[in-house]
Amino acid sequence: MSPMSETLFAKACRGVPVDSVPVWLMRQAGRYMPEYQRLRDKGDFLTICQDPALASQATLEAVEYLGVDAAIIFSDIMLPAAAMGLNLEFSPGPRIEPAVQSDAAVRSLKTIDPERDLGFVLEAIRRTRSALPTDKSLIGFVGAPLTLSGYMVEGAPTPLWLRLKGMLSATPDRAHAMLARVADAVAAHAAAQVKAGCDAIQLFDTTAGDLAEEHLIEFAFRYARDVIEQLKPLGVPIIYFARRIGAHLDLAADLGADVLGLDWTVSVANARRIVGDRVALMGNLDPAVLLTDEQTIESEVIRILGEADGMNGFVFNLGHGVLPATPPAHARHLVEVVHAHGRRP
Ligand code: CP3
Repeated sequence: MSPMSETLFAKACRGVPVDSVPVWLMRQAGRYMPEYQRLRDKGDFLTICQDPALASQATLEAVEYLGVDAAIIFSDIMLPAAAMGLNLEFSPGPRIEPAVQSDAAVRSLKTIDPERDLGFVLEAIRRTRSALPTDKSLIGFVGAPLTLSGYMVEGAPTPLWLRLKGMLSATPDRAHAMLARVADAVAAHAAAQVKAGCDAIQLFDTTAGDLAEEHLIEFAFRYARDVIEQLKPLGVPIIYFARRIGAHLDLAADLGADVLGLDWTVSVANARRIVGDRVALMGNLDPAVLLTDEQTIESEVIRILGEADGMNGFVFNLGHGVLPATPPAHARHLVEVVHAHGRRP
């Protein structure tokens, strides 16, 4: 895409001047939406992910309802784990059985071929890109190596990540071997998503902020940087999202990503002071605010836009995914008030 025809979202990601602040929501096509619930009546989550027509429909319905500036392809960070040979189910969280808990299990993780193993995601992207208005971006995504490996080692969501942390501290060689393989797999999947039509890639490193600082640097940031370096030549904006890394933003700003996604535990103003103009910022409304009322949502939006200090280099989002209990009208109201207040007069 030539710079002239770049979308508002792409411009904001690159920090070039814009007339208004773009907005999209992590998990914008989720269980809180009646349209998605109706799709779920027809099939379980994996079935929707694996059916390009249904996945594309879920992606597009969210964009149409909310009026956001970007779509995110309906898929999941766990799908490459199945492509690497693991048994994956959702109930509703991901389950991997058996989990990866030995050197032999790491060695038997397969190299993926995205067209062969994840072709349904790529076909959903092609359909979605051709149906999506050209002024809206389509975001592809992968789990960052540390976060995806965490689920592969634990076998299920967990609050404490004890097996993952055990691997990092007791068997660091195994951890490095695993992270290197997972990094290659997610880089290949992300690159294929760009070739299929995605205009940006987000790396979800949701778990990184739970680690000790030295582990964060050695195991999370190192492999996130590897993936980003592999994607850079493709030329699309890259977003790195992690939670609870307010104390590490200086390092995160140098991973090579164009945009840092923030959760609500650090203010946009503080983040900007730390990262300077090295990266654009994305975030960071606490999704809990969407459970309140329209006035509260509006005043929180005004506060965050004020912290962003001008419109350039900022993408409005939540600090994590939309909660299932969110009234859909509140999510739509959020988008409306960002568009109303985040505009050059
Ligand atoms: O709209 C979008 O944002 C696009 C689709 C998307 C999903 N998952 C669909 C989904 C995206 C970007 C993700 C990312 C994802 N998946 C992450 C990273 C971000 C984060 O939330 O931390 C992680 C860790 C996963 C793994 C995963 N998938 C979990 C832990 C769960 C269950 C609990 C939960 O948060 O919903 C899922 C299931 C899942 N992924 C659903 C959806 C719509 C719900 C499935 C259902 O219909 O029951």
